[in-house]
Amino acid sequence: MEQVWPGLRLHSAAAAHHWFDLAVPSQGSQVRVLEHTVPSPVLSDGFTTLRRFTVEDAQAFAAIHHDPLNVTWTASDATMSRARAAEFITGSIAAGWDAGSDLRFAVVDTRLGTDGSAGDIVGTLSLHEIFSTSRGGSASVGIKMLPAGRGTGSAQRAIELLCGYAFGNLGLEILHWRTTSANAGSNSLAKRCGFVLAAEIPGYGHQDAQVADGMVFSQSLRQFQARDQSAAEAEKAAVEIAPVVPVLRNDAVVLRALTMADATQLVENCINEDSVRWTTVPLNYTMEHAEFFINTLTPQGWASGETLTFAVVEPATDGLLGTVDLQCKNPGAASIGINFGPHARGTGAAEESVRLLLDYAFNQLNLSYVHWHALAPNWGSRKLAWKLGFTFDGEIRGDYNDRGTPADRWVLSLAATDPQTPQHPWTGPGPVSR
Ligand SMILES: CC(C)(COP(=O)(O)OP(=O)(O)OC[C@H]1O[C@@H](n2cnc3c(N)ncnc32)[C@H](O)[C@@H]1OP(=O)(O)O)[C@@H](O)C(=O)NCCC(=O)NCCS
Repeated sequence: MEQVWPGLRLHSAAAAHHWFDLAVPSQGSQVRVLEHTVPSPVLSDGFTTLRRFTVEDAQAFAAIHHDPLNVTWTASDATMSRARAAEFITGSIAAGWDAGSDLRFAVVDTRLGTDGSAGDIVGTLSLHEIFSTSRGGSASVGIKMLPAGRGTGSAQRAIELLCGYAFGNLGLEILHWRTTSANAGSNSLAKRCGFVLAAEIPGYGHQDAQVADGMVFSQSLRQFQARDQSAAEAEKAAVEIAPVVPVLRNDAVVLRALTMADATQLVENCINEDSVRWTTVPLNYTMEHAEFFINTLTPQGWASGETLTFAVVEPATDGLLGTVDLQCKNPGAASIGINFGPHARGTGAAEESVRLLLDYAFNQLNLSYVHWHALAPNWGSRKLAWKLGFTFDGEIRGDYNDRGTPADRWVLSLAATDPQTPQHPWTGPGPVSR
């Protein structure tokens, strides 16, 4: 392994391309860049991917332009047709890549996507006006997201990837972020991604096709590296205070911390069609997802106290049956998450694991309420909640984010003082035959 750049390691690989690894400041994980001989890098952190547009993406590219927020703030062409989008992709966008002056990426959320696709396009992110010099150079960052990508963290992840590429691979020394002053979402995203306000300029922005006041933010290589450094230090500190995950057991199951020994079964559990249908597990779940979940997300959840995830294992073999978690968003209350492998369903193990989790929630954490949220009509989930004494509080129309589409949410609750047995006869459909 040859050191070619701070934070960037060049590996020798197959003849046609090179692999680069870049540390991502906010994720602490690795960005993988596959650099082809023709410039078409694919940047990914396992959840968000940046890649070039192809003509097959014309519909999505046009949709980005049709979005009203993008029309308001970025002068997008609300009337762009699919054919016009295809012309852009094969014309000016391709020319920008060829010249190395304008690099426009599609932002892909790998957790979304159907039919085994690699994910859905949720926006576009560009490096414009690249000005390369022998000492470094500059460029301007531009972003447009689709509704499915907003509020999901995709934009921030995409920008972290782009910054890593701009500073680490292209060797630029400074990036600019131009926006309209009243565009609060853009301003806050810039700050979250490490950009610092450099100037407020009258008439430099536009809103609804009119001139408006604007702002320029900037981020230098040095600032990017400093953030990288402080993220690495924060991660180190978090490891030092990593909490001990308790072990909860009864005769039927053991709840303990997830380990990499669970990874293969975790992948099996998460690619199962019921898990994909009824939970928010990333699509096309791989060992990479499992590794990130086990080594990064789960320890982070325990460290912050926000998401307490347990592996549920069989006592005799220590084999993984499923996972349960408590999502502690509000004081005194938490929501349960559960996903069991098909091999472990219908065995009573899920019920036993939630009984242990409820005991932990009410008697160790002293919570007053535990909630159960399910995507309607997940009858298997609702019946389990019913067996445990949860009360059905109602269905909220469109409240569940079902991979970018509003769907109905069932809400059930259990108070610390409630009996943990069915509170009324079962009124849902009869049991499924296995
Ligand atoms: C939800 C889950 C943890 C329940 O575990 P379980 O209790 O072992 O699961 P089961 O498949 O036995 O389903 C529980 C009950 O619901 C019934 N059920 C399941 N699907 C049903 C359906 N479509 N219609 C009617 N009843 C159904 C089962 O027959 C069973 O009833 P029974 O105990 O009277 O036979 C498990 O099914 C699972 O992991 N599913 C995938 C992920 C998921 O949906 N998580 C919950 C998100 S809110």
